[in-house]
Amino acid sequence: MLPQSLLSLITLAAVVAAEPLHVPLTRRSSPLRRDNAIDPERLSKARDFLQIRYGYKALASTRRRRAGQTVGIATINSNVDSSYIGAISVGTPAQTFNVVLDTGSSDLWLASTDCASCSTVPQFDPSKSSSLQQPQTTVGQSSTVTIQYGSGAVAGTLAQDNVNMGGFTVNPQTFLVVDRMTDGLLDSQTSGILGLAFEALASTRAVPFWEALINAGQFAQPEMSFFLTRFLDDASATASEPGGILTLGGTNSTLFTGDIEFLNLSATDTVNDATFWLLEVSSVTVNGKSVTISTGTDALAAIDTGTTLIGGPTDGVQAIWAAVPGSQALSGQMEGFFAFPCTTTVQVSMSFGGKSWAISTDDMNLGTVGDGLCLGGIFDLGLGSNIGSGSGNPSWVVGDTFLKNVYSVFRASPPSVGFAQLSSAAGGSGMCRSLLLELFRKPHQRFLLLLLLLLLLVPKRARYPLLQMRYQLLRRLITIHSRRRCLRLLLTLLTFRLL
Ligand SMILES: *[C@@H]1O[C@H](CO)[C@@H](O)[C@H](O)[C@H]1NC(C)=O
Ligand SMILES: *[C@@H]1O[C@H](CO)[C@@H](O)[C@H](O)[C@H]1NC(C)=O
Repeated sequence: MLPQSLLSLITLAAVVAAEPLHVPLTRRSSPLRRDNAIDPERLSKARDFLQIRYGYKALASTRRRRAGQTVGIATINSNVDSSYIGAISVGTPAQTFNVVLDTGSSDLWLASTDCASCSTVPQFDPSKSSSLQQPQTTVGQSSTVTIQYGSGAVAGTLAQDNVNMGGFTVNPQTFLVVDRMTDGLLDSQTSGILGLAFEALASTRAVPFWEALINAGQFAQPEMSFFLTRFLDDASATASEPGGILTLGGTNSTLFTGDIEFLNLSATDTVNDATFWLLEVSSVTVNGKSVTISTGTDALAAIDTGTTLIGGPTDGVQAIWAAVPGSQALSGQMEGFFAFPCTTTVQVSMSFGGKSWAISTDDMNLGTVGDGLCLGGIFDLGLGSNIGSGSGNPSWVVGDTFLKNVYSVFRASPPSVGFAQLSSAAGGSGMCRSLLLELFRKPHQRFLLLLLLLLLLVPKRARYPLLQMRYQLLRRLITIHSRRRCLRLLLTLLTFRLL
């Protein structure tokens, strides 16, 4: 009995030889949690924002670089995994701001000093840039643009100026200088959004920053790659933490292991056809069991770094939560969300036609909502009304809840999205077992690891229930996603063992 359990434990570890890594991104205050409890108002705002963005009805420094570069940019994890932001500088002299890195939209906008309601965030002062210009507009085209969100809107005037990120410069880049913004749209350390999807989606009709760089031959590879950190499982996390690495112009091989699995964008043959970064959800499993979801055009998913959670169609989301014993749909302000008993672990995996990618159970649990229930990371985007295909809207929006678990590559040509296993260098996001396998690399070290695990597994009095309890504990331990927590727990266990 014992050797077999242990063997499966070790095999498990050997099979999933992932190597996660650590990198600097930063984050702000959590829209989702305050003092570890859910803030329904902020959460429902986040949902409305998302629903409007995808067309669903809501309830209520200028260094110049030579061509062909690959640059890693440290990002910020804002508000405990709520958004991932990065710095851009705009104008002459350069004004620097944090913006949401958003593969789910295609416009660049900044809150400006002309915006009275933007006083809570750092503002762009157009009057202080000597290089700012008004773009030429064609007949019938307005220089004022409004972008509507569920919880409000931004409006402003088109402008052109030099925009720099990580040493890459687009000059001129068209963007929106926002003079009206609904309160609370941005948190206090973010000044706007940098859209990283395709031109066809842009309300400003401008060529997005990243596409302009590719057109100008500035990227070594036509790719943008993300490693996103996780702090949801860290009670001591602050509103601004390292967010991971955005690599412009290629990938960073220290951040993933194995091959990158590229999947062609759905119904996209060329960059001109593309809007969102769209893949098709091919399967979803919950705690190892497959659930039935709609397929084909009803399964289109936008792969969206700018969205915190995962939103899906009513039938699919209901099927997922139906597979979790004791789960229930929430109502009122929380309509569209689901809760489950906090004592349950919910392990969801998703596939887009290739490998199935596991989502950490930490990402699926957003915190308590009372009565021993915890809020789930997948919500109903359709709010009870299944929106049919043909509307051009993705049925799924696959946000950071999923993307924290993979290294993701957004490739313009051929248009595709790639996923790979995070390396243990991708620090916060690696599993404990990957860390252990990395620390114990050589055969004799692996033997030591086996002994160590045996030592931890077998209690002083080897009674079966005790063994089983320890086995469960150890199994849980090695699937923990935080390097820090992994080592701390192992040390604690070992200390108690030796005492
Ligand atoms: C790749 O990531 C590692 C780890 O964060 C970092 O030290 C290195 O500078 C990155 N390389 C590039 C080219 O960005
Ligand atoms: C993906 O697209 C490329 C070019 O557009 C094509 O050559 C390739 O066969 C496609 N792959 C699959 C699996 O369809």
